[in-house]
Amino acid sequence: MTNPYELAERAADELRERSGVDSYDVAVVLGSGWKEGATTLGEPQSVVDASTLSGFFAPTVAGHGGEILSVTIGGANVALIAGRVHLYEGHSAHEVVHPVRTVIAAGAKKIVLTNAAGGLDPAIPPGRVVVIRDHLNFTATSPLEGTAPPAGYAARFVDLTDLYSARLRTALLSARPELTEGVYMGFRGPHYETPAEISMAATLGASLVGMSTVLEAIAARHLDAEVLALSLVSNFAAGVGAGSLSHKEVLEAGQEAAASLGALLSDVLRAL
Ligand code: HPA
Repeated sequence: MTNPYELAERAADELRERSGVDSYDVAVVLGSGWKEGATTLGEPQSVVDASTLSGFFAPTVAGHGGEILSVTIGGANVALIAGRVHLYEGHSAHEVVHPVRTVIAAGAKKIVLTNAAGGLDPAIPPGRVVVIRDHLNFTATSPLEGTAPPAGYAARFVDLTDLYSARLRTALLSARPELTEGVYMGFRGPHYETPAEISMAATLGASLVGMSTVLEAIAARHLDAEVLALSLVSNFAAGVGAGSLSHKEVLEAGQEAAASLGALLSDVLRAL
C-alpha cells in the first residue's frame, strides 16, 4: 500500500491546482443531509470532482456525491467535502480518512465534521443539532493502524483527551447557546442498531449513534488539526421512539433541516 500520508500530500497538490486555492483554513465534511444546507453558504469559487484526486473514491451511498467545493467565508478559505466514504462500503480506515488528511495537507487547521445520527435522548427530537463533546469508537479500527507514520509526522500513539476541541465548542456555544452537547458512539453499520445495542450505548454514556466521524476525528487530531463535530439528529435510535428506521427518513430529516443547517454552518464558520 502507498504510504497514506504521501498519498494525501499528492491529492492536496492536485486539489490546490484544480481549485485554484493555495491554502485552506477550514474544511467541513458534509454528512447526510448537510450538503443541501451548505448550498446556502454562497456560490463556490470552484467545484472539484473528488473522484479525480489521488486516493479518492466515488461514493456509493444515495445522498453522498463526491465533490470538494471551495468557498470564502469571513475571509477564510473553506473546503466543503461533499460525499464521505464509509467503512460499510468496504473501505479501510485509511481510505475513510483520506479526504480529511488531504485537506489538512492542503493547509486546513480546523476540521468541522458533520453527520446524521440516531438520537438516544427522548428530549432531543429529530431535526435538532447536537455538538459532539466526545466519542466512543465502536468501529474496532483506527486510522493509525498499520505501518507507523513516516518521519515528520506525529507518532501513532496520539492523545485524544481533547479530541473535540474545547476551544471550538466554547466558541460555537457562545454564538449558539441553544445547542446542547452529547457523546457520539460510532459503529461500522450499515445496519442500524438493535434496541439492545442502543440500551448498551445509553449505559455507556452515548447520546448519539452513527456510522462515521470517529475515524476522521482521530486522523485530524493526529495531524494536529482542531476538530469540531456536529450531529443532526435524523431519527430516534432503535427502541427510543415508536417508529422504524430507514435511510430515506435520514435523508428527509436533512432536507427538512437544510435551511437551518445552512444558517448554522455559516455561524459555525464565522465563530471559529
Ligand atoms: N444509527 C446509526 N447511524 C445512523 C442512525 C442511527 O439510528 N441515524 C443516522 N445514522
